[in-house]
Amino acid sequence: MDTYLQITSVIGVYVAGVVFVAGMAWRVYQWATTPKSPVRLGMFPKPATRGGRIAKMLKDTFIAPQSAAIEPRMWLFAMVFHVAALAAFIGHLRLVQEFPVLPSLLGEEGMNSFAGWAGGIAGVLMMVAVMYWIARRTFGPFKNLSVPEDYLLLALLFGIIIMGNHMRFFGHVHAAEYREWFQSLLLLKPHVPDAIRTSNVGWSLGTHMLFVNLFLIYFPFSKLVHAVGSLSANFVRSE
Ligand code: HEM
Repeated sequence: MDTYLQITSVIGVYVAGVVFVAGMAWRVYQWATTPKSPVRLGMFPKPATRGGRIAKMLKDTFIAPQSAAIEPRMWLFAMVFHVAALAAFIGHLRLVQEFPVLPSLLGEEGMNSFAGWAGGIAGVLMMVAVMYWIARRTFGPFKNLSVPEDYLLLALLFGIIIMGNHMRFFGHVHAAEYREWFQSLLLLKPHVPDAIRTSNVGWSLGTHMLFVNLFLIYFPFSKLVHAVGSLSANFVRSE
């Protein structure tokens, strides 16, 4: 167990962090140095003002009406997934530092049950959305359009979420212990607290992090960079 956690939840996190930052820097450099198209790439209807263009970019990126019109069910699951992922991301910030105000407002018990409910709901919604995506590519007409990368990314996401949910629903490790581990990584003095190493979810944390690391390493080179590129791509659409 100690070796597994050392590889996945200490060394692996540093390797993934370096590859992710360097990979994203390389991506942004590539985008920035690609010559601008001499042809205008905008599509009608185009807003007349710059404010209108920015509003359209935000709408196209965060509401994606084009997707809703083409495949409404897929759009619904994508919305659910992204909102739940945002909630889970905000929850994960607790690993860096405890939230201000909330714990004193809710009390320790209240904070634990709020985190339990919010994290649990977000985790289940993300799991359902990814299961829908896997089914959509496995059984429907989209099977023919799917390439191995599509399944690989979904499998990584599924692994991350299942292991996160396992910790959330079956673990008894307190957020403070996870925070101690994560802060120790940030301070470059890594150590995994005994409460995690000896718990029933040490393996789940290790496997959560194994998938997270693979996901982060692959991210800059995968189609998921759309998360960063879609804003500028949508801006060009109204050029
Ligand atoms: C550096 C990156 C990450 C770290 C250190 C991390 C760590 C953790 C920890 C410690 C938990 C257990 C929380 C608890 O039970 O109190 C957890 C839960 C979870 N994680 Fe992560 N995680 C990371 C990235 C991700 C990513 C990229 C995703 C999804 C794409 C994800 C999805 C989840 C889900 C769905 C849960 C269960 C629900 C929840 O508690 O929010 N995690 N994670």
